[in-house]
Amino acid sequence: MGVVDPAFIQDLEHRPKLAIIEAEGIPLIDLSVLNSADPVSEGSLVSDIGDACKKWGFFQVINHGVPLEKRKKLEKAAREFFDQSLEEKVKVRRDEVRAYGYYETEHTKNVRDWKEVFDFTLQNPTIVPASTRPDEEQVVEWHNQWPQYPPQLREASEEYAEEVEKFCIKLMELIALSLGLPVDSFNGFFKDQTSFVRLNHYPPCPAPELALGVGRHKDGGALTVLAQDDVGGLEVKRKSDGVWIRVKPTPDAFIINVGDIIQVWSNERYESVEHRVMVNSEKERFSIPFFFNPAHHTIVKPLEELTSEENPPRYRPYNWGNFLVTRKGSNFKKLDVENIQISHFRVSESELANRFERAVSVA
Ligand code: OGA
Ligand code: NI
Repeated sequence: MGVVDPAFIQDLEHRPKLAIIEAEGIPLIDLSVLNSADPVSEGSLVSDIGDACKKWGFFQVINHGVPLEKRKKLEKAAREFFDQSLEEKVKVRRDEVRAYGYYETEHTKNVRDWKEVFDFTLQNPTIVPASTRPDEEQVVEWHNQWPQYPPQLREASEEYAEEVEKFCIKLMELIALSLGLPVDSFNGFFKDQTSFVRLNHYPPCPAPELALGVGRHKDGGALTVLAQDDVGGLEVKRKSDGVWIRVKPTPDAFIINVGDIIQVWSNERYESVEHRVMVNSEKERFSIPFFFNPAHHTIVKPLEELTSEENPPRYRPYNWGNFLVTRKGSNFKKLDVENIQISHFRVSESELANRFERAVSVA
């Protein structure tokens, strides 16, 4: 047997290259103009955000206004939590019934991730469909579980989440403007949100050339706001040529990425981009993604304002709650089938061409 359990080993084509490309990185956007109340600089901010969403699907922000001490407090509590024995941590383990809490055997695309996590929801309880049946009408509640130690984890988590949520609403407003939409176009979707926060711990790995902290994936929700420490390891697949690019840690910055739902809402003006996490043999790494997700009853489909006869909707409507519970269930086991993907709702290119032709011939 090798140095790591075979469950962690990526197929050859997906193994990371230890030589890191730090060429042109993702855009860095300074948000201090948000406090300046100057419409001209806010206008150029909106276009910078639009360009970053279009070209990369990823950007970093500084001067974002989320209080640093709240982030530090949660980072400290997260370290203390993960520092405990496995026996302690599994007391708040996630399972089929308890959707949030500690988890150490997550798989991405059927390969085990080299990490352990602690998840909590913002809106406790979070309401979701009772089963993965597409026509499910019953709902169930998903509740948080808090560990005894460290005692301040709960408060630190709740305070941080509250701040980042406000920030996400602001970001969605800027994204709406960048798409030429009214500023509050997205706000209604997040009333009974299913957003959650994940505390990630990536321990040192004896075989960083074979395993990944998180395998390549796209985020299924609307928007992700990630706090990473100074170790580094996140890689983004550059849209222009498919090369994996390392996101260099910037102190106190957040990394923002467009999720699958924005891809659908924007009818692919913006795309959700693949990313993954490399691990290393010396240093442990911590990160905190905030997944901003709409209410379970949201029917996700391209926004009418962004489609036309010449640019017909590229997706059939789907139910977000069904997507979420289907994804969640699949995290618990290796599946023989592919996990649910937005591509399953994509209208085929030939069908799009037909619709376009019909539209043009009528005009
Ligand atoms: C994720 C993710 C990145 C990181 O959890 O979806 O992409 O740096 N995490 O931890
Ligand atoms: Ni991700």
